[in-house]
Amino acid sequence: MRLGAGKSESRTEMTVHFIGAGPGAPDLLTLRGRDIIASCPVCLYAGSLVPKAILAHCPDGARVVNTAAMDLEQIIVEIRAAHAKGQDVARLHSGDLSVWSAMGEQMRRLRDEGIPVSVTPGVPSFAAAAAALGTELTLPGLSQSVVLTRTPGRASSMPEGESLTNFAATGATLAIHLSIQNLSKVVQDLTPAYGAECPVAVIYRASWPDETILRGTLNTIETQLSDTIQRTAIILVGPALAGEGFDDSCLYAADYDRRYRPQSADSPWSGWTPEE
Ligand SMILES: C[S@@+](CC[C@H](N)C(=O)[O-])C[C@H]1O[C@@H](n2cnc3c(N)ncnc32)[C@H](O)[C@@H]1O
Repeated sequence: MRLGAGKSESRTEMTVHFIGAGPGAPDLLTLRGRDIIASCPVCLYAGSLVPKAILAHCPDGARVVNTAAMDLEQIIVEIRAAHAKGQDVARLHSGDLSVWSAMGEQMRRLRDEGIPVSVTPGVPSFAAAAAALGTELTLPGLSQSVVLTRTPGRASSMPEGESLTNFAATGATLAIHLSIQNLSKVVQDLTPAYGAECPVAVIYRASWPDETILRGTLNTIETQLSDTIQRTAIILVGPALAGEGFDDSCLYAADYDRRYRPQSADSPWSGWTPEE
């Protein structure tokens, strides 16, 4: 889908395709993302986290630009130049675009300029981290919610109300991004609600070759952290991380009456046939 295509005043049909490049492993790019990259004569990629191997999908002769050291205006200048030539742009950000991708501010500028955009989702890093642990983050009876959050950084404050202590009051599984440098504050804020023995995992560069996993508790995790884990790590916290003491879901319970498995002739689902 091309967002804003109807409003476009551009002289050409070029589009800026925002693509979630996934958490790191090059084969965790979606097929759609790969194909769009292969069709774009210009590729702008966030070089600090997007794996270089993904750039191999760019067509021969493509203009490939690492935007890691560029500011927003410089990025828009690149896009304007492609727009003027009618060239599609693949705009790659790590993980998925729906969280901490800076897509919003770029889209706002492109919308103002009448440049069409599309969005292709990617595998988010919290999902890659959970996969590295081999863990479901929503285990019945323990947690049915995952909070994707972060702590304040040098360049980003947190909106009032979005504090770790507030999220901790829910007991949900927390996936804390951009915060490994604040681990002691994370532990301090979460311990009163979750307890010192609450399981914690730190997943550094999930799905990259140097992926590292630390499993501990709120009590131990700080002492387990080594200097090599400084950036690109997710902190997962919550009782679900223990992977035990949870209920089976109803979904596969033998006696659970449901559309796909009616239990009797009286079931509201009796006689229902799934669409082909
Ligand atoms: C700017 S945010 C990008 C988030 C990304 N859009 C996503 O969908 O996950 C960067 C933060 O995401 C997390 N992150 C990104 N890739 C990761 C990975 N492969 N393993 C662990 N954490 C990762 C880290 O917390 C890092 O500080």
